[in-house]
Amino acid sequence: MKPSLPETLHIDIKRINREIEHIVKYDKDVPRTSVLARSVLQLIRSGGKRLRPVLVIAGSRFGCAATGSRQYQLAAAAEFIHAASLIHDDIIDRSELRRGAPSLHTQTGVSAAIHIGNYMSARVVELLSGYTADHDRFVHDLSSLATAQLCLGEYEQLRHAYDYDQTLEQYLEKTRCKTAQLMATCLRTGALSADARPETAAMLYRFGEALGMAFQIEDDILDFTATAETLGKPAGSDLVRGQVTLPVLYALADPGLEPYIRAIQPETPAAEVNDVLERIRSGDALERSEQMRRQYLRSAMQAVEPLRSHPAYGQLEVLHRYFGGKTA
Ligand code: FPP
Ligand code: MG
Repeated sequence: MKPSLPETLHIDIKRINREIEHIVKYDKDVPRTSVLARSVLQLIRSGGKRLRPVLVIAGSRFGCAATGSRQYQLAAAAEFIHAASLIHDDIIDRSELRRGAPSLHTQTGVSAAIHIGNYMSARVVELLSGYTADHDRFVHDLSSLATAQLCLGEYEQLRHAYDYDQTLEQYLEKTRCKTAQLMATCLRTGALSADARPETAAMLYRFGEALGMAFQIEDDILDFTATAETLGKPAGSDLVRGQVTLPVLYALADPGLEPYIRAIQPETPAAEVNDVLERIRSGDALERSEQMRRQYLRSAMQAVEPLRSHPAYGQLEVLHRYFGGKTA
């Protein structure tokens, strides 16, 4: 069997999972048998690639201190932030499915799910503040700035729903906030927590940011190309919800497609949206989006070129191959 990304990077995924579960299992304010604790544990155990924790640990290998319990705790915190954001995301997107299973709010109800997501993101701030006796800026970045950026990115996305005049710059900025900056922060946090040089951490941030951009663009492309089975949710969901993703932006530049796309509004029947989906698929928008994705992948490697002789550089090559869609 092909090794997983953590295996290829020699990252102890079981330890990461233990640390994540530890946050909720040993929370003195939350009884283990409560609906809240059980919901969080169920969510955490429902899968996920653990990309953000992996980025924290990979980043830590660029420091002079050994990767240890502090880095694993930071890695767990990163996944907690991400998981909390997905609870909110599924409510906002009205997604009934996540990873092929019913999303949390469909099980607990929307109000309870909002509270669970808020609890998770607030608990991380509290947990990480335990590290800040020395007022480490990087801990602050992960604990509160990252979540603030996620919220701002989502807010911009909401503000631009069905906005067919959205610019490429607005799309890129929103994508940076909602996806790329958390991945970038994970690498930088890992590096700084292990006493890496600030210049090294800054390069890793740029690497993670570019990979994150490529990651989200791929997610946007997959909404057109993948099946519901591989996506774990219905394909074409972005267009139905008026999300002007990169393929939609490029398709809007085609005068033959533009009027069809602009006609999509919240009440447009599914059959009509499916017709537009097909039209976009047969144009060049997906190829142009793929080119942009590859451009980000190239700039990721350029950002870390000065680290080429670092013993941990191979970790970045593995991550790059993984995000580029090749095997780990
Ligand atoms: C997935 O996007 C969602 C995100 C990358 C971030 C969502 C962030 C929020 C909703 C703000 C969170 C707020 C708090 C308080 C934690 P997507 O819908 O494009 O991807 P999907 O296909 O995985 O649903
Ligand atoms: Mg979503």
